[in-house]
Amino acid sequence: MDSALAKSTPLEFTPDQLPVHIGVIMDGNGRWAQARGKHRTEGHRAGVEALRRLITCAVEFDIKYLTIFSFSSENWQRPADEVNTILGLMKKFVASDVGTFVQNNVRVRILGSRVGLNNSVLKMIDDAEQRTQHCTGLQLNVAFNYGARSEMLDAAKSIAAKVASGEIQLDDIDENLFSQSLYTTGLPDPDVIFRTSGEQRLSNFLLWQAAYSEFVFSEEYWPDFDRASFLRLLDAYTGRKRRFGCVG
Ligand code: FPP
Repeated sequence: MDSALAKSTPLEFTPDQLPVHIGVIMDGNGRWAQARGKHRTEGHRAGVEALRRLITCAVEFDIKYLTIFSFSSENWQRPADEVNTILGLMKKFVASDVGTFVQNNVRVRILGSRVGLNNSVLKMIDDAEQRTQHCTGLQLNVAFNYGARSEMLDAAKSIAAKVASGEIQLDDIDENLFSQSLYTTGLPDPDVIFRTSGEQRLSNFLLWQAAYSEFVFSEEYWPDFDRASFLRLLDAYTGRKRRFGCVG
């Protein structure tokens, strides 16, 4: 990510047309590498570069919230060397880029379960969140050890515990309370969810929050994502008519 970014909105988009919150499923690292005769882990390395390009674009276009799916609760089942490579890349990424985030007023928040994470991973998460907590520009939400079904079960359990203790009544449970009991508490729902690599599914990402999100899919593998891809994403989104169940 560049250190001193100018903000701009290209002439074809007005700021009110742009999404406030973009969710991104960065898919296709492994296939990108395999197509080049490389080891899958090389795809993840190239994926980090693509992630830097995405964050640069989000800052440039003054996007308020960007949520990336970096590691799902199911990803632990991948071969150990691949899991270790992804964790290592994340640690390196946090260590090398947090200073640039602060320069660009980017706040980092990690979404997901912290149960069972080892101390070095917990330290990485705490470092990234604490060092950027004063930033007020882009909020970069990193979904890590994240699964939407577990997120909803955790929310259900915390609400049930409050009912059981008498802190709230059954009738107090509504959509707002449920939303505020998720890992994404305080965030607006994503306006658009973008997925690369030609796959057209949510894969347990933001299931509750995506109720009215637009979906944009692209054929390119994640490591090929660049500024032109971002413009195509904005172009697709701004062409949609959102009705939220009403008549428009
Ligand atoms: C999907 O590609 C990608 C992932 C499971 C991990 C994404 C990780 C990174 C971009 C790098 C590390 C993250 C950060 C936040 C620095 P895939 O492996 O499922 O690709 P495939 O579907 O082609 O096999």
